[in-house]
Amino acid sequence: MVKAQQNKTRTKPPESEAKSIDYQQVIAGFRSRLLQVTSHGLQKAVVKHQERGKLLARERINLLVDPRTPFLELSTFAAFGQYDHAFPSAGIVTGIGLVNGRECMIVANDATVKGGTYIKETIKKHVRAQEIALKNHLPCIYLVDSGGIYLPEQAHVFPDRFDFGRIFYNQARLSAEGIPQLAVVMGSCTAGGAYVPAMCDETIIVKGQGTIFIGGPPLVKAATGEEVTAEELGGGEVHTSISGVADHLADDDRHAIEICRKIVDTLPVASKRTIELKPVEAPNYPAEELYNYLSTDLKKPINMRAIIERLVDGSNFQEFKENYGKTLLTGFVRLKGIPVGVIGNQSFLTAESARKGAHFIQLCNQRQIPLLFLQNITGFVVGKKYEHEGIARDGAKLIHAVANSVVPKITVVVGGSFGAGNYAMAGRAYDPDFLFMWPHARIAVMGGEQAAGVLQTITQNGKNNSLVEQFEQESTAYYSSSRLWDDGILDPVQTRDILALAFMVTLNQPIQKPNYGVFRM
Ligand code: COA
Repeated sequence: MVKAQQNKTRTKPPESEAKSIDYQQVIAGFRSRLLQVTSHGLQKAVVKHQERGKLLARERINLLVDPRTPFLELSTFAAFGQYDHAFPSAGIVTGIGLVNGRECMIVANDATVKGGTYIKETIKKHVRAQEIALKNHLPCIYLVDSGGIYLPEQAHVFPDRFDFGRIFYNQARLSAEGIPQLAVVMGSCTAGGAYVPAMCDETIIVKGQGTIFIGGPPLVKAATGEEVTAEELGGGEVHTSISGVADHLADDDRHAIEICRKIVDTLPVASKRTIELKPVEAPNYPAEELYNYLSTDLKKPINMRAIIERLVDGSNFQEFKENYGKTLLTGFVRLKGIPVGVIGNQSFLTAESARKGAHFIQLCNQRQIPLLFLQNITGFVVGKKYEHEGIARDGAKLIHAVANSVVPKITVVVGGSFGAGNYAMAGRAYDPDFLFMWPHARIAVMGGEQAAGVLQTITQNGKNNSLVEQFEQESTAYYSSSRLWDDGILDPVQTRDILALAFMVTLNQPIQKPNYGVFRM
């Protein structure tokens, strides 16, 4: 193990102040956007909601989770910059929190955002939360307050495989896997939305506030001429004493959450994989120093060793093949006591670094050590010499290893994520258990300048500046998070805490035996 004292001499001091100032602006922008997307819907909708005696979605979650425990919120920037900013956080809050000591996936509609209705990103976020719950055996708690599909968007949200119907399909599958499904009906559950509580194992409904119906009063009147109030049609009293669609009647939001916490107490205790947890050691350097190593200019290299040393216990990075394939760093660390194998880019991928990465992934699979991919990758090395040497063959080895790796893996894009480098470093298509971005990070098939250059060569036209601009806009972390290409944007200084939480969650997964296909030799 490389000793902390040795690391101290190895890590260069923080770089120029100018760089830090540059990054302070990035962080200021991140924080103000975060405030914007976590402040619920329009003020008038918030007032209306509160006047009805209802708590806001995030207040409900705060009450539900154990006091003074963290809530790992996912995809806070979903739908950011789209729909005229009318859907902050896509009108739904999802994340993992402790309820009576049990890790649970919480999915809470935000009724102050267009009545809690679902656009494409709301559904993606809900379905992604269920995927994480399935993989990690997390009980799901749905805090329901939603008008169902946002009707103007119906063509984008209703019929396809991963559209609205997938939510209820997933509930059935999760329940069949023995993963508890609990609903707290705190507002409207209309049409398809009625199936969220109806598909659950156990459901609570708030008196005078929660309603569940397949067709609301206006639809009933139009279809049959029958006139009925929402409460008579599908209120709490109806469903807990007449229809049996719900199981518990609560007086208000707080009471409902109390009942829910008691139900969680009756769930079987999760069986986590046992690992040898070491005592937690803080890194030797303050997390804020991470900013000094980052720049909005992704052409500037990032000192990946310095990043790793600011994330891991005691800044200890036990490198594997330190002197071989140096453009990829591989090695073992502890993250809040958890053993983790780190793979981080120091530059573009070469044949040697690709082989080294594949070898390291096999080691971690054999030892059942989860993987952390730190992406800052422009792609694989290009040129005649490298093609002749078979860079595609060695790149394929790394991609095979990543695709068939069976240990949990988490990816953080700490800089650029471009081209096939994205695949080899466990991009979204390679099913990392979690994928996070840092605020300045970018993800695209290639940089805008390069894309314009390629097209210029092919078409023999002049440089296409609008393409450069398009790539510039479409590659930001906010663009990615808005479309749920990732699970959220992290402030670099919070990354260590969040990674430790996320790795703890993955301990709920059983690990299969690794099984690789044909490695082209
Ligand atoms: N599609 C599109 N917009 C919807 C909507 C839907 N299904 N449900 C609500 N909205 C919009 C409203 O037009 C309103 O928009 P605005 O803020 O721009 O004026 C906003 O969401 C809030 O709705 P409002 O009715 O004022 O709030 P509320 O809290 O009093 O009632 C509902 C919320 C969800 C109970 C009620 O709007 C409703 O019953 N909606 C229809 C539900 C439905 O039939 N869904 C079927 C689709 S599966």
